[in-house]
Amino acid sequence: MSSYDVIVIGAGPGGYVSAIRCAQLGMKVAVVEGRETLGGTCLNVGCIPSKALLHATHMLHEAEHNFAEMGLKGKAPSVDWKQMISYKEKTVGQNTGGIEFLFKKNKIDWLQGWGSIPEAGKVKVGDEVHDAKNIIIASGSEASVLPGIEVDEKTVVTSTGALTLPKVPKSLVVIGAGVIGLELGSVYARLGAEVTVIEYLDAITPGMDAEIARQFQKMLTKQGLKFTLGAAVQGVEVKNNKATVSYVVRKDESEHTITADTVLVATGRKPYTTGLGIDALGVALTERGQIKTDASYATNVPGIYAIGDTIEGPMLAHKAEDEGMAVAEVIAGQKPHVNYGVIPGVIYTHPEVSNVGETEETLKAAGRAYKVGKFPFLGNARAKANFAGDGFVKLLVDAQTDRILGAHIIGPMAGDLIHEICVAMEFGAAAEDIARTCHAHPTYSEAVREAALACGDGAIHV
Ligand code: NAI
Repeated sequence: MSSYDVIVIGAGPGGYVSAIRCAQLGMKVAVVEGRETLGGTCLNVGCIPSKALLHATHMLHEAEHNFAEMGLKGKAPSVDWKQMISYKEKTVGQNTGGIEFLFKKNKIDWLQGWGSIPEAGKVKVGDEVHDAKNIIIASGSEASVLPGIEVDEKTVVTSTGALTLPKVPKSLVVIGAGVIGLELGSVYARLGAEVTVIEYLDAITPGMDAEIARQFQKMLTKQGLKFTLGAAVQGVEVKNNKATVSYVVRKDESEHTITADTVLVATGRKPYTTGLGIDALGVALTERGQIKTDASYATNVPGIYAIGDTIEGPMLAHKAEDEGMAVAEVIAGQKPHVNYGVIPGVIYTHPEVSNVGETEETLKAAGRAYKVGKFPFLGNARAKANFAGDGFVKLLVDAQTDRILGAHIIGPMAGDLIHEICVAMEFGAAAEDIARTCHAHPTYSEAVREAALACGDGAIHV
């Protein structure tokens, strides 16, 4: 048994970042993690492996579609799926190993096993009970599977199974047109699978700016993905290694089925707190089963904090990381602040899609007067050279003050371009501030500046 200033439960982006910040602030820290490797869902079976597969299949797409035009002749590469999976696993290994290194560097103990909290101030791992002045719950989330669907991670899979399929399926049905469904749906469409996405709502990517969502759907359709919108999936039946999905089209209540080699269930995630013992401790939850915290991430039980996917807010690795740093600073007696109005969201398809802040829909609902500044990548020289002219940058600014309220990008490197706008928003900038900042030519970033110019006297290259 050992005594710690802080024990963090869970070594995902929320937990490991929090542990490092606690150590930097002079605390004695341990992290409880039951997986064989550190990094949680994101590094092991989420963000990182999916990005490796997205990268590899995007390269394939480029070779198939754009190489010849650039004068790069020769046969398009064929897919060695086993090698692609091993590249993905190597990438994961490099990242999870990196966290182990950071733990050693920061003198953080890894308590291997699944943790529980028998009482405030104590964490049990296996047969050992450790003392902890503070406990941070960072145990993440798990796939939320619809009733009537049994996941076997072979024929009916969550994102976890979809990252380790033994072979590329000929047909794939994706349930849910959210981030996971579209990223992994894209991977398999590029590998030649016939991909059908079934979505309950009438648009893809709920919550996204509607104009971007429409454009995004058009682009994915061009890439071969099929969409059935406004359809509620009722169940999935597996027979002879094939899965049949039954769904009801909401408009006319007609019943349909579709059969595929593989079904990916991507209908959201829910907090994972199983086995922690928080019920017995009386930790308060929200109606949606998230751990309730105050602005300092404190639960109603003194000495127990919670962050990341276990609490309210978007289930994003970077949101968890920010909360991880903030809670460490709270425990150290500082006064940190996470700006929830400036948390970017990115979908790593091709093209990428990113957003921050308000959408036109949220601004209209709030009755706010706003202006839109838009710029198409077709007017951007770099994008044209790189076959990346599809898409646009859209800035939403206050009609009176020109202050940036939100931004939406669909196009090349959208996930990186958004951060210039995030920093501007963090500083309370106006579109004019971006418009008057010199941007190097030729870069994709010029499209952001042009959208800012479009909020004023006009963009130059349209
Ligand atoms: P999601 O919440 O983004 O999308 C789920 C979709 O399933 C929704 O559009 C919903 O309307 C639909 N749906 C629900 N029930 C249905 C039914 N019966 N029939 C048809 N459609 C139905 O959830 P997703 O994609 O599973 O992602 C989970 C979490 O992981 C999200 O919070 C997401 O932000 C996060 N994530 C983030 C990534 C990123 O930042 N790039 C990558 C992967 C996941």
